Amino acid sequence: PVSVFENEDIAAKKVALRISDIIKSKQRRGENAVLGLATGATPVGVYEELVRLHQEEGLSFKNVITFNLDEYFPMQPEAKQSYVRFMDENLFNHIDIRRDNIHIPDGTLEKEEITDYCLAYEQKISAVGGLDLQVLGIGRTGHIGFNEPGSAPNSGTRLVTLDDLTRRDASRDFGGKENVPTKAITMGIGTIFKAREIILMAWNKKKAPIIKKAVEGEISSSVPATYLQLAENVEFILDKEAASELT
Ligand code: F6R
Repeated sequence: PVSVFENEDIAAKKVALRISDIIKSKQRRGENAVLGLATGATPVGVYEELVRLHQEEGLSFKNVITFNLDEYFPMQPEAKQSYVRFMDENLFNHIDIRRDNIHIPDGTLEKEEITDYCLAYEQKISAVGGLDLQVLGIGRTGHIGFNEPGSAPNSGTRLVTLDDLTRRDASRDFGGKENVPTKAITMGIGTIFKAREIILMAWNKKKAPIIKKAVEGEISSSVPATYLQLAENVEFILDKEAASELT
């Protein structure tokens, strides 16, 4: 299903509320909530609202285990553009999550360690019972996570090459496209599909053309987000502008 909201703020609050409902219902049963998280501009308002729910309404993250979708490769965790730093600054530093419950792909590995590391990442997700919810943004290439055009529907966590457009879109953060890493470690499309619930968020006019393709276009590896049309448990949460080209 597709839900369209008046603006990003209202939509982000809606997503935060869904996350907090999952956390609380798991708490009542004495279970962990396992969340798949994204970085980038899109989820910032969601994290802001989660921090507010923690600080002002007592929402606890003590029973929350997180797995982030991706990280640039190579990337040092303390670098300004690292997703470790992003998650700390936007969410983790402001809530009561246990540090050892946080998982983000490691951008500092040696090349020969990556295959085993990626398999272990998948196994860790399974070992804690699988993802209750995966939140996603979408890139202008149609990527989810960093699953760029060409990604297979059954792909797992792996090292990938970033699309040129993705590197161009990241160039401001890195002070020039030439400084954007050419690779990343990302959960696969198959990893994302195993989540019990998937929410893809998109805001702004800039995302309208790719949202049209993702929601209404032919399912194809050239727009990886189109695979989500095959998922039963997916919701597209959009603002008016991102939805503006939908039929
Ligand atoms: C980030 C990620 C990417 C972004 C996408 C949109 O963890 O997996 O797929 O969600 O590139 O980025 P923004 O939100 O910055 O437009």
